[in-house]
Amino acid sequence: MDRELALEVVRVTEVAALASAQWLGRGKKNEADGAATSAMRAMFDTIAMRGTVVIGEGELDEAPMLYIGEQLGTQDADAPEVDIAVDPLEGTTIVAKGTSNALSVVSIGDRGTLLHAPDMYMMKIVVGPRAAGLIAFEDPVEKMIDTVAKAHQKRVQDVTVIIQERERHQHIIDAVREKGARVKLFGDGDVGAAIAACMPETGIDLFIGIGGAPEGVISACAIKCLGGDMLAQLRPQNEAERERCIRMGLSNPEQVLTLSDLVSGDDAIFAATGVSDGELLQGVRYLGNDVVETHSLVMRAKTKTVRFIRALHHPDHKPNLVWK
Ligand code: FBP
Repeated sequence: MDRELALEVVRVTEVAALASAQWLGRGKKNEADGAATSAMRAMFDTIAMRGTVVIGEGELDEAPMLYIGEQLGTQDADAPEVDIAVDPLEGTTIVAKGTSNALSVVSIGDRGTLLHAPDMYMMKIVVGPRAAGLIAFEDPVEKMIDTVAKAHQKRVQDVTVIIQERERHQHIIDAVREKGARVKLFGDGDVGAAIAACMPETGIDLFIGIGGAPEGVISACAIKCLGGDMLAQLRPQNEAERERCIRMGLSNPEQVLTLSDLVSGDDAIFAATGVSDGELLQGVRYLGNDVVETHSLVMRAKTKTVRFIRALHHPDHKPNLVWK
């Protein structure tokens, strides 16, 4: 993959964030998602690549665009062949409610390197670079806390575990509190939360919990770029979901997936733009006089470069942006 692709792809997340931010706090999550999806789809076609969507908005019969298998990019013969995982709006409920941490995200890997994860739940454990390789999937959370405390040279009471606030996680929340570590709960948006666990400046040491499998693959690219580590396991909820895993080539749905199973290549690109203000990025801000500000993050696994990009946009001059 060319390094220029990393800078190109941030335009895709910017435009999706700009489109969906128009719906912030309006109580309409489908409209917010639709706006992000259309804007992202249009911008993808300006990028020199031969891309195939492996994680998208659904199967062809469920989603009119950014569906699994859709070809994206200019398709020039000399353009790189890549797998693309998208979530035009990660946190549809967040935008509907006008709360924090909504992102627009894209992950890219060389062709054939991103796991084709079915749309179902996945158990995910994420640590940053200093604890990479030190956690086992079967470890009880108390042991994981001891491990990250040692790796980060912190006391157990200073360790922070980020967990999505769901009934299904209550036993984990109780165990972390019982151990004496700190819990940071979030409502929605587990991609940003997983990334935060790989950035020491957030103060978050461990991400644990069950969320979407597609979001898991998208997060895995970011975690690879940051040198962190991830372990995962699909959690089919019924026989139909189990069969779906098998049809998609995952013959043992209970297999513990490593970071390399999720993203198998040496390289990966991850880009995100904030839609609403959050842990990682500031959201879209309307500065007046037809100026709109975005904050994005773009990174690449091969070089480990992490770029934060602040952009000032003039919506009247953006032909690909459907401005509400
Ligand atoms: P959406 O953007 O599709 O609303 O997903 C938000 C999210 O919080 C994800 O980040 C997470 O993986 C998933 O939902 C968790 O699912 P559930 O809401 O069913 O617990």
